[in-house]
Amino acid sequence: MKKIVKNGIIVTATDTYQADLLIENGKIAAIGHDFPLGGAELIDTRGSYVFPGGIDPHTHLEMPFGGTVSKDDFETGTIAAAFGGTTTVIDFCLTNKGEPMKNAIQTWHAKSKDKAVIDYSFHLMIGEINEDVLEELPVVMEEEGITSFKVFMAYKNVFQADDGTLFRTLLAAKELGGLVMVHAENGDVIDYLVNQALEQGNTDPIYHALTRPPEVEGEATGRAAQLTGLANSQLYVVHVSCAEAVEKIAAARRKGYDVWGETCPQYLVLDQTYLEKPNFEGAKYVWSPPLREKWHQDVLWNALKNGDLQTLGSDQCSFDFNGQKDLGKGDFSKIPNGGPIIEDRVSILFSEGVKKGRISLNQFVDIVSTRNAKLFGLYPQKGTIAVGADADIVIFDPNVERTISAETHHMAADYNPFEGMQVTGEPVSVLSRGEFVIREKQFVGKIGKGQYIKRARYNSSATDATDKVSN
Ligand code: URP
Ligand code: ZN
Ligand code: ZN
Repeated sequence: MKKIVKNGIIVTATDTYQADLLIENGKIAAIGHDFPLGGAELIDTRGSYVFPGGIDPHTHLEMPFGGTVSKDDFETGTIAAAFGGTTTVIDFCLTNKGEPMKNAIQTWHAKSKDKAVIDYSFHLMIGEINEDVLEELPVVMEEEGITSFKVFMAYKNVFQADDGTLFRTLLAAKELGGLVMVHAENGDVIDYLVNQALEQGNTDPIYHALTRPPEVEGEATGRAAQLTGLANSQLYVVHVSCAEAVEKIAAARRKGYDVWGETCPQYLVLDQTYLEKPNFEGAKYVWSPPLREKWHQDVLWNALKNGDLQTLGSDQCSFDFNGQKDLGKGDFSKIPNGGPIIEDRVSILFSEGVKKGRISLNQFVDIVSTRNAKLFGLYPQKGTIAVGADADIVIFDPNVERTISAETHHMAADYNPFEGMQVTGEPVSVLSRGEFVIREKQFVGKIGKGQYIKRARYNSSATDATDKVSN
């Protein structure tokens, strides 16, 4: 059925203007004024913002990790994402060494199909490079539309790959048109520091942060950036948490290297002192990289503002406090790493960023949606309000206030790391390909309606070359 979205303020990564939208066959058919009703459903936004659905480039739904499986799956995770104004997620498909990658991709399809309520796509983990992998990569790109590859520089003896693997992945990505993503921490040094702490009897959650200091993130980020320059390839650094890593990304970009950086809401508003909470509560705040001293937050905000960092991912990887995080009682290294963030990613950036004057409204749209679409081969099908684009739309009340709480969130995890935080601005209704998923703050979507999206190859000219070099 046709829809007319009326009386909204359209916000894109570049413009803010008053107009109506005509939606037909799941797409934005026209942008203008006074469309004849002609049997269309009228949606009066009453002056709310209307912006492209958020694109979360970093999720781990139902992922086996840390001796357990992340709590939110493609059903609960995508419902929560939709409540928060996200209409596409790109999840990390884990591969196993020695096994065809297509097996791993099938596993991820099986988890997501018939469950997701919004559209989704996959990144592919590269744990090793050999002739089989090099043969399979172009096939995966062609058949599955998976055009981004993740290399872990940390999690020794679990996911960690060596520098040779990273370098060869960068070379392959250059040749094939892929974007290489890195978890940038020096896993070998962390392994040494963790063992040392445990030998000294230091087992509390705070030692998670103390054994992964900013230097190990900065070092790995710089190394990955240098290897990218050497390979003349392209790199996206996930979950940047500290000044040391921002400096390396900014320096690489000044040299003209094709290097991009993502941060996450937790690093923008929470700090290392949360890991010191009593009664093991600090475990709720265990991420890798860890939360940092508070002053790093200003560096991250400035980097988003000046373009040294370009995107915000949730790094959604939720675990219950009771029954999952407590696997690490008495040994911080066994606390499952990650938290429930997917629902609050957009609101936190709006409230803490736009409302507090740290970034502009158009930058906000770029950071939560448009830039991710461009980097990950979804643009202009997604990530913008334009004729021909998917009608993935958020109708957002910029003035409503709410308090974040596990009591009211829609994620499956039994706590919310932002518990009690006041935010201004909230999605009222969310449409995915022209259909309501959230209507007046109620879930009205259909389980399994989300589609798997094949993505285009990395195209550096589509990412705005002018934004690549910051001053
Ligand atoms: O602590 C985190 N970040 N958990 C999810 C896995 C990862 O490293 O991204
Ligand atoms: Zn990571
Ligand atoms: Zn992650």
